[in-house]
Amino acid sequence: MLDLIEIKKSQIIFCKKFPIYYISKEREPVLYKPPEKGLDAATIEKNPHSHLFIRKEDEDAIIGILMSIMNAKLAKAISEKGFYAIKKFLCQIVEEALNRPLETTLKALPETIDILFDNVEKNPEFLKALTTINNNSPKVIEHSVNVLALTTQYCFFKKYSENDIKRFGLCALLHDIGTSHIDKKIIESDLKLSDNEFTQLKTHTTKGYKDIKSKSFFDDSVALTALEHHELLDGSGYPKGIKDISFEAQVIGLIDSYEPLTYSNKAFRKVLKPYEALQIIKNDVKKEKYNKKVFVDLCSCLIN
Ligand SMILES: [Fe+2]
Ligand SMILES: [Fe+2]
Repeated sequence: MLDLIEIKKSQIIFCKKFPIYYISKEREPVLYKPPEKGLDAATIEKNPHSHLFIRKEDEDAIIGILMSIMNAKLAKAISEKGFYAIKKFLCQIVEEALNRPLETTLKALPETIDILFDNVEKNPEFLKALTTINNNSPKVIEHSVNVLALTTQYCFFKKYSENDIKRFGLCALLHDIGTSHIDKKIIESDLKLSDNEFTQLKTHTTKGYKDIKSKSFFDDSVALTALEHHELLDGSGYPKGIKDISFEAQVIGLIDSYEPLTYSNKAFRKVLKPYEALQIIKNDVKKEKYNKKVFVDLCSCLIN
C-alpha cells in the first residue's frame, strides 16, 4: 500500500520529477501524473480532482525544491520588484516553515536570511518599508516577518557582527514556530481568550523549543528564544516564570510585545505610532519586566 500525503494545488508545479496520485471512487490510489512529467499552469488549473497526493517518501525532496525556488524568487523580487512582492515571498517562505516544521523547510531559512542581509546592507530603508506593508497573510506569519524586520533593524543599529545579525534573525523568524501545534481559531482570534484557550496558547513556547531543538543545524539560542520569549525579568512570564532569560529572548520578547501595538492586519484594530507603543511598554520596563538597556536602544533605533 502506498503511503500518500495530500499536496496543495500551488505545490504541484514543484513535483515535476515525482508521481502524483488521486484517489478513485473505490478509494484506490490512481496515478495522475508519472515521474519526470511537468504540468503547465493551465493543466493544473483544469485538473478535475479536488485532492491530489504525493508519496510520503518524496515529501522532503519536494519541499526542498519548493523552498529553494521560493528563495530564488525572493532574491529576484529584491532585485527587480517592489517591497510588496518581497514581503509576499517572505511570508510564503515563513508560512511553509511554520506550517510544516520539517527539516527541509527549516534548512532553507538561513539562506532566506542571507538574501535579506545582503540587501539590507545596500538599502537601510528596506526593513522599515517591510514592517509597514500589509500583506494580509495569517497573523503569525506576518507577525514573524515583522519581528524579523524589527530585530534586524535593532541589530544593525547595535552594529552587531554579520553572524550575530543572522542568528538573531533566525531567533526572530522562528520564535513562534510552536504555534503551528495550536488550534488556528485560538491563534487568529482577536477576542479575549478563555483561561483554557490561553493555557493552550502558552504551550507554543515549549512545543516550539522541541521543534527547533531536534534540528541540529540551529544554534542553541534559536530554540531557547522560542522557549523563553514570553518570560519576563520579574519572573511573571511563562512557561516557567524564570528571571534568568537568554539575551536573545529578552530582545525578541520586547520586540514581540511592541510589534502588535504598531501593526495590524485587521482593519478594525487601532494601530499606535511607534512613540505611543513605546510609551506603553515603558511602564513594563519601569516594573522591571524588560531589560532597560535593550528598551532604550530599541527606542533610539525606532525613533530617528
Ligand atoms: Fe510567542
Ligand atoms: Fe510572537
